[in-house]
Amino acid sequence: MAEAVKTAEKSASERPVVVSAVGLTKVFRDFWNRPKAKAVNDIDFEVREGEVVGLLGPNGSGKSTTVKMLLGLLYPTGGRLTVFGKSPRDVENKKLIGYLPEETYLYKYLTAFETLDFFASLFGLSKEERTRRCDQLLDMVGLAHARNRPVGEFSKGMARRIGLAQAMINDPAFLILDEPTSGLDPLGCREVKDLIKLLKKRGKTVIVTSHLLSDVEEVCDRIIVLYGGRIRANGGMEDLLTIRTNDTITVPRLPEDAIERIRQIVRESVPDGEMSVAHPHMSLEDFFVDIVNEAKKESLETSGSRSGGAIADYLTGDKEHDAKAVLESLTREEETPAQTLAKKMEEDAAKAAEDAAKKRQDELFAKLQASSPAPEEEKSRREQQEIEAKMSEANRKLKDLLTNPTDRKD
Ligand SMILES: Nc1ncnc2c1ncn2[C@@H]1O[C@H](COP(=O)(O)OP(=O)(O)O)[C@@H](O)[C@H]1O
Ligand SMILES: [Mg+2]
Repeated sequence: MAEAVKTAEKSASERPVVVSAVGLTKVFRDFWNRPKAKAVNDIDFEVREGEVVGLLGPNGSGKSTTVKMLLGLLYPTGGRLTVFGKSPRDVENKKLIGYLPEETYLYKYLTAFETLDFFASLFGLSKEERTRRCDQLLDMVGLAHARNRPVGEFSKGMARRIGLAQAMINDPAFLILDEPTSGLDPLGCREVKDLIKLLKKRGKTVIVTSHLLSDVEEVCDRIIVLYGGRIRANGGMEDLLTIRTNDTITVPRLPEDAIERIRQIVRESVPDGEMSVAHPHMSLEDFFVDIVNEAKKESLETSGSRSGGAIADYLTGDKEHDAKAVLESLTREEETPAQTLAKKMEEDAAKAAEDAAKKRQDELFAKLQASSPAPEEEKSRREQQEIEAKMSEANRKLKDLLTNPTDRKD
C-alpha cells in the first residue's frame, strides 16, 4: 500500500464492517491478454456500517472500477474483497445494495413509473407495494409530474433522478452512488446531497464517488482520494481538512479602532503572528440556490423536473408505526430551501382556502338566520326584547324620579 497515504483516525471503528478491501487490484488487459491499464493498484480500505464515504479522484483514477468490483460486476485481478463479509458476487448481497451507475441506462419507451415498477418487480414486491413505493419515490426525486412520460424524453438531470429512485427501490442498507450529481443543476445537486444526509441519518452505509470536490465535502464523514489507481489520502473530513495552525473568529462587523485593539492583543500573544481581517463568503451554490428560490417566490417557472418532495414513507423506517414520526422529524431537520418554500406556499394556500370557506359559511349562516330564525333563537330573541323593553321602562321611571322627586306617588 502507498506510503504517502495519510490515514486519519477512524471514528466508526466499532461498527460492523460492510466493505473490506485488501491489496485490491484490477488490471485491464487487451485482446492479446497484455496488461493495458492498471485501473486499481493494490488498495486497502474499509467501510463501516452507517458511514458515508466519498471516493474522490480525477477522471480515470479508478473510482468506477472499484465500485464495479464491489458490486461483483468486475472480477478483481488481485487482492481480497468482501461486502457484508461475503464475496461481492453473493446473490444475498443484491438485496442489500442499491446502485446508481455512472451512466443511467433506461428503456426509453417505458414511462418513469413503468421503469421503477420494472425494477421493483425484480425484488419480488407485491403490486400494491410496488405502486406505493414507485409513487413515493417519484415524488421524492421531483418527478411526480413526469410519472407517465417515456424516460426517453428525459433530460440528463431527470434521468439521473430516476436512476436515484431506482437505486432506492429495495430500501437497501448499502448504497453505491457513482457520480450522483453529474448532469444535475445546483438545485438538483443540493437535493441529492440532502438526500444522502438523510440516508446517513437512517443509518444507511453510502459510498459516493465524485470528481467534484464540493459534492463530497458537504456530505461525507470520510474521504478516500484516489489517483492513478492508488489511495493518496484516507481519513475523516475534519482530520484531513482542518488547518490546525490557525483560528477563525467570526464576529459582527467591527469598527476600525476595535480591529486595531484586537491586532494589539494578537501581537502581544503571538509576536510573529500575522492577523488578517476579511468578510466571510457564502458559497456560489448557496448564492445560486437563494436566487432561484427568490425567483420561485415570484412564481417564475422553469420546465423539466421540479424540486423533490418528501422522503418516501417506506424509506423512513422498518417499523410502520415509527415511520411517520421518523419521516417528520427527519424532513423537518433536513428540509431544503425549496421544500420549505413549497410547504409555506401550500400552508398559505390552505389557510386562504380555509378563511374563504369560513367567510362563506358565516354569510350563509347570517342569511339563513335572517330568513328563518330557529324556534329556540326566536324565543330567546323575544325574551331579549322583553328585557330590553323593561330596562328602558325602568330607566325612564328612574329619570322621572330624579328630575321630579316631589312628584313621587308610590
Ligand atoms: N473496460 C475497460 N477496459 C479497459 N480499460 C478500462 C476499462 N474501464 C476502465 N478502464 C481504465 O481504467 C482506468 C480507471 O477508470 P475508471 O475506474 O472508469 O475511472 P474513474 O471512474 O475514476 O473516472 C482508466 O484509465 C480507464 O481508461
Ligand atoms: Mg467513473
